[in-house]
Amino acid sequence: MKIFILFLIVTSVESYKILCLFPYPGKSHYMVFEPILDELINRGHHLTVVSFFPATIPLPNRRDVSLQHLAPPNVEVLDLKEIYLKTQKYFGLENYFGHMSIVTSLAKSNLLICERIINSDVFEEFLAGKGEYDLILIEHFNSDCLLSLVHIYNVPSIGLISSSMMPWTMARAGAPDNPAYIPGMTLPFTEKMTFFERLINTFTLHFYNTWFEYAIWREEQKIIENKLKRKLPRLSDLGKNSSAVLVNTHFSINGIRELTPSLIEIGGIHLHNRTIRELNEPLRTLVENAEEGFIIFSFGSLVKGSSLPRKQMKAIINAFARLPQTIFWKWEDDISDAIKIPKNVKFEKWLPQYDLLNQQNCLAFITHGGLLSLTEAVASSVPTLIIPILGDQFGNAAHAQKAGVAEVLSLTEIEEDVFYNKLLSVLSKEKRQKAKLLTSLWRDRPQPAMETALFNIELVARHKGLDMSSGSRWLSPIQYLLLDIIAFIVFVLFISTFTFVFILKTFISVVQIYYRNKEKSS
Ligand SMILES: *[C@@H]1O[C@H](CO)[C@@H](O)[C@H](O)[C@H]1NC(C)=O
Ligand SMILES: *[C@@H]1O[C@H](CO)[C@@H](O)[C@H](O)[C@H]1NC(C)=O
Repeated sequence: MKIFILFLIVTSVESYKILCLFPYPGKSHYMVFEPILDELINRGHHLTVVSFFPATIPLPNRRDVSLQHLAPPNVEVLDLKEIYLKTQKYFGLENYFGHMSIVTSLAKSNLLICERIINSDVFEEFLAGKGEYDLILIEHFNSDCLLSLVHIYNVPSIGLISSSMMPWTMARAGAPDNPAYIPGMTLPFTEKMTFFERLINTFTLHFYNTWFEYAIWREEQKIIENKLKRKLPRLSDLGKNSSAVLVNTHFSINGIRELTPSLIEIGGIHLHNRTIRELNEPLRTLVENAEEGFIIFSFGSLVKGSSLPRKQMKAIINAFARLPQTIFWKWEDDISDAIKIPKNVKFEKWLPQYDLLNQQNCLAFITHGGLLSLTEAVASSVPTLIIPILGDQFGNAAHAQKAGVAEVLSLTEIEEDVFYNKLLSVLSKEKRQKAKLLTSLWRDRPQPAMETALFNIELVARHKGLDMSSGSRWLSPIQYLLLDIIAFIVFVLFISTFTFVFILKTFISVVQIYYRNKEKSS
């Protein structure tokens, strides 16, 4: 019996050679994938990891190819003053187009990074197709550049998404992305939309898809084909050929979508094996002494929190002064002496966010609503006040508000009273109860997110690639909407009616002639 079991284990766990590609220099993105890489190594697979974040200690079975020298990491690069100016409200309406102009400016940096990676020395071996791999794991974010390797190596690939789904993710898997009821990630909508919201949603979906096609992947295609001096299949088609896409979402906090078997939700994967660490001094004492509880305030790692415009900062400080709680505020710069700071507000250059969220007396979290921050809040049952800034944060905020665990405030709406009242609502008993319920739903799954991720990665490797996406991804809009079929039916109906009328008319005139002739002869 024992020998039999041993035999089973030995034969069922094969070791695969996996090429992992992370061409985006965002630390928070890479943090999501790292636990998956660690567990793949634990299970005996051999990884080659191309990223901006090489492992600091060498690990067996893992070879790092560093891109670090090609671009600085995206940490605290977004300036709130700039975003504030671009997103001011017009006639009381949120300026969605302001967000678009910020995203559009990302195109340039994407193409620059693609060009640098493709032309770097460390990348030569991959363009030449050196080494043997069973599988490619690749981040699907706002670049398709390295999908070219899927063609060069001719092996199956799996996409990884650390945010909510990109506006083109669903269509590439052949899953419905009908803007009538599926809100785009960059919009503050949930599934029930008014006419005006559906109008904006439809426009936005098509805007981002067109932007991605013409500003990004077609340009990247040119860069790669220039380098290789030959034609490649369309990068978008290589994306459609992914065997699976693992997304860092969960229906309880990201909304309901009709997923194909290839779209696999692994929300909360970055908290895999995460234990609560002891706080360092002086934070520990401050937390212990916060008898009325405490609030965390952080805009995450991409935004520079201390770039908050002075007017908003003052309003928020005044609101904080009216509260009994202690506030820990992530602020990267020194505070100017001109600002009077209330005793209960503590500015910190860095906060151990997840460890703080899990303290008994943590009462609320003021956040930009990035998916990782929101997930950590949900995992820790802490209600949030969300001030969305960019990308999927608007959608995340809307869904959290709908779930009853958050209040939302836009950057342009911040005033002392508004901020204070929203914060009071976040601190209410009702929100705390809802947060506890949401945590238990979010945790309640058939298997932990990591097991889902590993199972699907090994499944694809075992079967040397799988087609788990629907056929709709290969159809043109005309075919998908059955416009050709409808046109055909209308045509046939038209022709048959025409023919019928023609025959009828001919018959009638023949009969008429017959009777006329009969009359004449009689
Ligand atoms: C996660 O925890 C499990 C169980 O304690 C352990 O076997 C595994 O090695 C851990 N994985 C990582 C990446 O730390
Ligand atoms: C997609 O996959 C199929 C089946 O493996 C293959 O025949 C086809 O050439 C692939 N298309 C592209 C664009 O790589």
